[in-house]
Formats: sequence, C-alpha cells, structure tokens
Amino acid sequence: MWSPPCARWPRPAPGEAVNAAVTRFDTGDHEALDALAGSLSVLPRDCLPASRDRLEAYWKRSVLAAAGGAPAVRVETGGGVTGLAVYRHLDWDTDVLGIPAGRVSVAAVGGGPARERRIAARALAARMVETAREMGDVHVSVRLDAREPPVIQGFEGAGFETVDAILTLIRDLDREGLDPVEEGAARDAVEADIPALRSLAASGFVYDRFHNDPTLGAGAADALHAAWVENAVRGNTGCGVLVAESGGAPAGFFILGEDSAARDTLGFGVGTLVLITVGAAYRRRGLAHVLSVASARRLHDRGNRFVEVGTQLANVPASAVYLASGFRLASTGVSLRWAAAGGEGSA
Ligand SMILES: CC(C)(COP(=O)(O)OP(=O)(O)OC[C@H]1O[C@@H](n2cnc3c(N)ncnc32)[C@H](O)[C@@H]1OP(=O)(O)O)[C@@H](O)C(=O)NCCC(=O)NCCS
Repeated sequence: MWSPPCARWPRPAPGEAVNAAVTRFDTGDHEALDALAGSLSVLPRDCLPASRDRLEAYWKRSVLAAAGGAPAVRVETGGGVTGLAVYRHLDWDTDVLGIPAGRVSVAAVGGGPARERRIAARALAARMVETAREMGDVHVSVRLDAREPPVIQGFEGAGFETVDAILTLIRDLDREGLDPVEEGAARDAVEADIPALRSLAASGFVYDRFHNDPTLGAGAADALHAAWVENAVRGNTGCGVLVAESGGAPAGFFILGEDSAARDTLGFGVGTLVLITVGAAYRRRGLAHVLSVASARRLHDRGNRFVEVGTQLANVPASAVYLASGFRLASTGVSLRWAAAGGEGSA
C-alpha cells in the first residue's frame, strides 16, 4: 500500500554494529602511534609543503607533548587502533572565564568508513566528557578539522555543540615579498601600554567562540581578551605584541606567536598572527593592514618561512584584511564546546 514519503522517512538508523573499545593510551606505545599516524587522512599543517613523513613526525611529537602526564585514551574499532584523544584542564581559562574549563587537546581518528570514524569519534568524545566530569570541569573546548564531518558528528553525538568556525590563511614569506610599510608605523608594546591595550581588547571582539557561547557569564569573553593581551605584553604567552598608534595613543595591536615544534619536524619555521584588534574609532584607515605586514615581517626576521593567521568564518572584515595583505586560504576548522547540564556553565 502506498504511504506518503513522510511516513517512510527518516529511514531506520543502521544498527551500531561497530564496537568501539576505549582504553588508556600510554605514551610508550609507539606501535599504536605509528599505526594511527599512517592511517590519518588529515594531518595538522598538511596545507604546508612538507613530506608525509615530516607531517606524521610533527603530529606524533605534538601528541606526545600533549599526552605526557595528561589523561589520554585510544579507541579500537574492528581490531585496530583507530583513534586517540587527550584531555587537558586549563588553569588560565578557568581563572579568566570563572568556570572550571578544559580542552580536548588532541582528537584524531584514522581513515576508514565514515560510519566507523563517527563511532570512534563519539566513543572518544564521550570518554573526554567523563574525564572532564571526573576533574570537575564544566566547560570543554575542542577544535576539529572541517574536512572530517564524521568526526565532528561523533563529538556532537556526545553532547558537544558548534561555537565557531575558523579559516586559517597563510603566506610563504620566502617566496612572496611584503608590501612596504612606513618605518615606525608599528612598534613593540611596552608595559605602559597595558591599560590602553586591555581597553581595546575588552571592547573589540564580537565574532569569537567566547562571545558566542551562551554558557559563559556576561563580560567573561571581554575579560579573557583583556587578560590575554596583558599576558602577551608581559611575555607570558606568544613572542611579542606590535602596536599601531593614532594621535600618540595605541589604536590597535597584534599579538604574535611561533610554533616551536615546526622548525625541527617540518624543516621550516611557522609564525602566527595570534590576535588583532583596531579600536572602533580608528577602523578603515589601514591600521590592520600595517599591523599585519609589520607582524609578518617580524616573524620572518625571527626565521619563520610561513606566517599563518586564523579568523572566524563570520569575520568578513578580518578575512578581507588578510586577503588584501596577500594571505591565502589554507585550512578550515570547527570549534565545539561541551558544557555540563545544570552546572554553573550550562545554557
Ligand atoms: C578586522 C579589523 C582588525 C580591521 O581593522 P582595520 O584597521 O579597520 O582594517 P584596515 O583599515 O587595515 O583594512 C584593510 C583592508 O581590509 C578590508 N576591510 C577592512 N575592514 C573591512 C570591512 N569591515 N568590510 C570589508 N572589508 C574590510 C578592506 O579591503 C580594507 O582596505 P580599504 O579600506 O582600502 O578598502 C577591525 O575591524 C577589528 O578590530 N575588528 C574587531 C576585532 C576582530 O575581529 N579581530 C580579528 C580577530 S580574528
């Protein structure tokens, strides 16, 4: 008998016949790490011109650095190790956000059918949530590659929600020259700038994952950005802050960073333009362009061949600045967050 299409859809979900066994990952288990590295279809920094061997070495080094002393697990589906995740409690974020927070610092799922990858990711994500609960954290972040929808779906299945999407743009500074900028148009930040830079940071951002997270208290995102720039000026994070002035006062800044593992494993340095803002009253006067070019030059002078910058998918002004400054789109990612229901940080 005929039945309307709506009665036939959705089709019954296929049985979850794939079993996922999650066990502790031991950093001495090089066999599992090597096997998993070889099966990953997506590797961090695979947009850069490094060999597969170097990219795998870079990934393994970052896993071992993250997993030393931190809760780390592996998942087996269908006999072999198909995924790995590492959890990290974040003291600084806990302090500035005012809620106990952590991060899934590594989330990797090897190649295989999409359904198996989703099941592996879900099992890892569920274990990360358990770990967060055991450690008393109520807010957990993770960044996943946008090329892996099954992994994203696995995290969603364990209760994570999308809070942001990220575009990463790069420039090859050994090959492409930079626009000239006026001498002294950007200078190093000094401690006396901190109050002005904190004020720019606390009023400048709107598109980031903190401002768009309903589980965070009012003002938490602004306080986080203000604390971030102060930390950077004091040398506690990143590798410098450049300031552009207007009328003798700071009108915008860029925090710089460097990937310390890239040079050894990939064979070239990678610098990062970490965080920029230009005060609302000073926009569309070319200050972000000046800061981007001067920051890229500084990172090149420090021996980095590539410079990368990330921005939110929604942040058209920032993407427009980087494209106008010669950056090209290199990779895409999604930020997700889990928040404990009924806890301090819940919606
Ligand atoms: C993004 C931001 C830094 C740009 O600063 P700015 O000093 O106004 O940018 P510039 O004047 O150097 O712009 C350079 C070019 O980028 C493009 N651009 C800048 N702002 C733009 C906008 N709102 N819309 C479209 N294009 C824009 C234009 O091509 C511009 O050149 P033009 O003015 O000659 O057309 C500023 O809007 C800002 O601080 N935003 C809030 C903080 C933020 O989102 N930071 C980025 C986090 S990743």
